[in-house]
Amino acid sequence: MKTVQDYIRTIPDFPHEGIMFRDVTTLFSDPRGFRIAIDQLLHPYAGQPIDKVVGLEARGFILGGAIAHQLSLGFVPIRKKGKLPGKTIEQAYKLEYGEAVMEVHDDVLQPGEKVLLVDDLLATGGTAEAGIKLIERMGAEVIGCAFIIDLPDLGGRKKLAALGMDVHALCAFAGD
Ligand code: PRP
Ligand code: MG
Repeated sequence: MKTVQDYIRTIPDFPHEGIMFRDVTTLFSDPRGFRIAIDQLLHPYAGQPIDKVVGLEARGFILGGAIAHQLSLGFVPIRKKGKLPGKTIEQAYKLEYGEAVMEVHDDVLQPGEKVLLVDDLLATGGTAEAGIKLIERMGAEVIGCAFIIDLPDLGGRKKLAALGMDVHALCAFAGD
């Protein structure tokens, strides 16, 4: 039986020479692959009290939407700056080169709400950390961070663990 990792395609030298791009579109486009990925992502949280699922743009929307539907919860997008129409709060984060900004509608989570944060990939952890900060600034609590892929050499899991986060990843690619 194929595992989640088996459905992920690796494309060398994208977007830069020397980068091994882990392409989850081949996982998402396979009916069994997509189903087992969603089932395995939400498995540790079944029966836990969760109020909302938050997804990080862009692939976190595909996963977070399916998970929220499966758990009968609402879904909240954290977007790159300039896309959300309402009043937002912003959080800057580091990229490989330079900085970017994520934002979220400022009234979408209530203090004390329990949140599951979802994205496709954990690399340096900068994107997820920005998401966690936005969620916590609204007074909500991140009860788990779920990813398809962990790139352990880039330190994201350690960074999130140092923030006291529970990290769940379905597979890892080391040596990237
Ligand atoms: C990728 C990936 C994660 C993030 C992980 O997104 O989808 O969101 O990088 O990297 P980090 O742990 O080092 O922050 P990307 O910024 O390429 O944008 P996209 O999802 O909109 O394509
Ligand atoms: Mg992303």
